[in-house]
Parts: sequence; structure tokens; C-alpha cells
Amino acid sequence: MDALKVSGISLKINGHAILDNISFNLEKGSFAVLCGRNGAGKSQLLRCMKGLVKPDSGKIFLDGSEADAKIRLRNIALVFQNAEMQIVSQSVEKDIAFGPENQGLDRTEISKRVDHALSLMGLQDKAKQRPQTLSGGELRKCAIAGILAMEPDVILLDEPFANLDYPSTLSVMRALISLHEKGYTVLVVSHEVEKFLAHTDSLLIMEGGKIMEQGCSKDIFRKLADYDIYLPENASFEDLTWLKH
Ligand SMILES: Nc1ncnc2c1ncn2[C@@H]1O[C@H](COP(=O)(O)OP(=O)(O)OP(=O)(O)O)[C@@H](O)[C@H]1O
Ligand SMILES: [Mg+2]
Repeated sequence: MDALKVSGISLKINGHAILDNISFNLEKGSFAVLCGRNGAGKSQLLRCMKGLVKPDSGKIFLDGSEADAKIRLRNIALVFQNAEMQIVSQSVEKDIAFGPENQGLDRTEISKRVDHALSLMGLQDKAKQRPQTLSGGELRKCAIAGILAMEPDVILLDEPFANLDYPSTLSVMRALISLHEKGYTVLVVSHEVEKFLAHTDSLLIMEGGKIMEQGCSKDIFRKLADYDIYLPENASFEDLTWLKH
């Protein structure tokens, strides 16, 4: 069963083809990584999927049904590269509650979801802390927790390791692996493909607004070199499992 299906999405800006007939699908519970050079169209694709940008043509399906922008805004979560810009409240727990409050949920349900999201992201000790005082990695996790509390069908993350040091990268990576294990459908856009590859089910490579390659990560990762994306020399797929716990 596909959690998400993108079918023939095209987008032009000022006459330039930014996205050119993009089609792919994400199986329910899958973990996918999307990579490609700067300017390939990755972030614009995420914006179209989420419903923030209207493509010129194409359709998007959630759980097998066509989903308009309104439905996608509600059911697809997007964590931006500058996730800290998404933080709006005076404490971590209030920030995480912000989304569910806007969804009009009752207090008990909100509090249940906040606790769950805090524990998924390992932020229980930080619940009362002011977001401004969090470290970069904690802030990113706070942004992800806020999104999880809305219980989205699909989670999209744009460069989740940007500006993170090694320990923060590790902890966000562990959090993403744990979301995958819990059955969330996750698509990550990243230039640090070597960090994700061994943990993902599928790999998508974009260039010039097109999906050039898509398939099982293990089967097609050697093709990355055709797009100037290089992995540690002679690394086998298994060598890349540096974060497996
Ligand atoms: N408003 C706009 N006007 C003109 N061109 C635009 C506009 N918005 C985006 N683009 C172009 O669309 C292309 C795709 O941009 P996008 O941000 O999706 O790239 P990306 O693959 O995410 O790159 P990066 O890896 O650098 O984040 C780029 O060439 C960009 O210049
Ligand atoms: Mg981008």
C-alpha cells in the first residue's frame, strides 16, 4: 500500500521548468532518501507535495485517494531546513502543543500527544525549557516533535542535519530511525546521503527537475557516482551502517 503517490508533477517558474513530470511513490512505513545537486528541485518538490506551492500539472495521492492541497497541508508534515524558524512558543511543550491546538483537539488529547512526541524525540527533560535555550540538535528535534504531535501520514524533512554537529546529527538520525521503526512514512532530502543510505528502503536521485533514478537503496546506490555524489571509497552497502544500533 502506498502512503503517498506523486503522479506527473510539473512546475514552471518564470518560464523555467523547475519540476518536470515527477512521479514516484512511497510505501506505507517506508524510509526514503532524495538527493541531487544544488538547484535540482528537491525543496520545490517538497513544497509542492506539502501543498505550499501549486504545481502546473500532476496529482498527489494519500493512501490511494487523490489529495488536494488542503488535505495535504493537514496530513503531510514538512520540516524545513531552518527548522528553528518553526519554533513559536515560550516552552518546548507549548511549542509541541501548538499544532494540535490549531487542529482543535481537546486538552486531554493534546497533552497525550505532547507527551508521546516528547518521548519519541527524547526531549522529556526539556519540556519546560525555553526553545531559545536549546542546542541546535535539540531545536531540530523540537521542530520534529511539534510535527509528530499532529500525527501526520507522511513526514518530509529538508536537510535535517544542516548546521548540526556530530552528536546532534547522531541523535536526530536515531530519532528518524525510531520513527521509521514505529511505522511512520519518512522522506528525507539530504546531501549527506551516506549517513542515511543503509537505513533507508528507497533512494531517489533528482537532476534538472527530473527524477533520474529511483529504487531500492541497496540496488541502486552505486549509481550515485553518475551524479557526482560520492560515497566513502569502496564502501559496501553494509559499511554504511555506521548508525545501526
Ligand atoms: N521564485 C523562483 N524564481 C526563479 N527560480 C526559482 C524560484 N524558486 C526556485 N527557483 C529555482 O528552482 C530550482 C530548484 O530549487 P530548489 O530549491 O528546489 O533546489 P534544491 O534541489 O532544493 O537545491 P539545494 O540542494 O541547493 O537546496 C533552482 O534552480 C532555483 O533557482
Ligand atoms: Mg533545497
